[in-house]
Amino acid sequence: MEKLRRYLAQKLRLVDLPTNDQNNESQQLVLSKLSLDGIVEYIKENTNCKIITMAGAGISTSAGIPDFRSPSSGLYHKLDKYNLPHPQAIFDFNFFMKNPEPFFTLAKELLPEGFKPTISHYFIRLLSEKGLLLRHYTQNIDTLERVAGLSSDKLVEAHGTFHTGHCLKCRAPYTLLWMKEKIIEGIIPKCEECNEGVVKPDIIFFGEMLPERFRILADRDFIHADLLIIMGSSLVVQPFASLIDRVRNTCPRLLINNEKVGTQDRLSRFLGLRQGLVFDVKSAHGGRDVAWLGDCDTGCQLLADKLGWGDELRALIQREHERLKVEDKSDN
Ligand code: OAD
Repeated sequence: MEKLRRYLAQKLRLVDLPTNDQNNESQQLVLSKLSLDGIVEYIKENTNCKIITMAGAGISTSAGIPDFRSPSSGLYHKLDKYNLPHPQAIFDFNFFMKNPEPFFTLAKELLPEGFKPTISHYFIRLLSEKGLLLRHYTQNIDTLERVAGLSSDKLVEAHGTFHTGHCLKCRAPYTLLWMKEKIIEGIIPKCEECNEGVVKPDIIFFGEMLPERFRILADRDFIHADLLIIMGSSLVVQPFASLIDRVRNTCPRLLINNEKVGTQDRLSRFLGLRQGLVFDVKSAHGGRDVAWLGDCDTGCQLLADKLGWGDELRALIQREHERLKVEDKSDN
């Protein structure tokens, strides 16, 4: 069993074996209270608290962008018209190579245009402005973190971005503006350099490697985090989902989401793999994970209020939304 565990850890990177330091760290209660108030106290007591945020589609739903898996409203429940072998085929690299049309038809709806970042996006920016953000890891391709003004050095777009694209044959680079024109016209974008390859937005499809930046920074960052905040993700897609297990055993983890996710599944438990989030304080590993269940924006605003930053967050959003409105007008 240990051999299998090591194989999965090393080859598939499904789990990170704990370092000696992590093994030696006791599973103690690291929060005075297992609640949002406990997290607030922890941040206030740790003036140089290094926070990593991890996000999924749930932080953008209030901007009008559907998530993937929510019953009925999620994108994977609305793909009947594409006649796909299974919903995830729309983002499957092999399927795309054979038939790029369904993706580009859907891309019309997914184009990051006219969407405004949400309270959750600006909360992450505020963490950065306060010098508390070690890094933000996002699975989202909607570019809203960039629109919210989060600096690129703080951002890891684990599943790539719509912001740029490349020819799949000669790798010639293309801008979002160029791709957007073709996609809106209903044309499959073809490379103007080699006249052969399809130009695919730089979003990561199933079957593609995640960006180097993800691998390098995840290896570097997580061990240094003092707090992990996970927002709006079902935590089912690997390797992103396993990042939650890469922080030290004493690092508190706050989940802000509609539902409890990221807990250890049966197979992982059987194989002794990823520990997952542990909300049961009676468990041997309990004592540091908090689930705040509800809407991400409400959770972020509440957290900001409790930290005494509520008005600052509201003012930042008002200012930035005004700026975007002016930019929108001058573009039209
Ligand atoms: P999912 O759709 O799988 O999960 C979104 C999660 O956010 C769910 O747990 C929802 O309940 C929750 N949620 C939705 N709206 C919310 C809100 N306003 N407030 C709080 N919670 C909310 O989306 P992801 O986890 O991002 O990959 O999906 C991961 C990956 O699966 C995506 O990056 C994409 C997809 O296949 C690729 O395309 C490669």
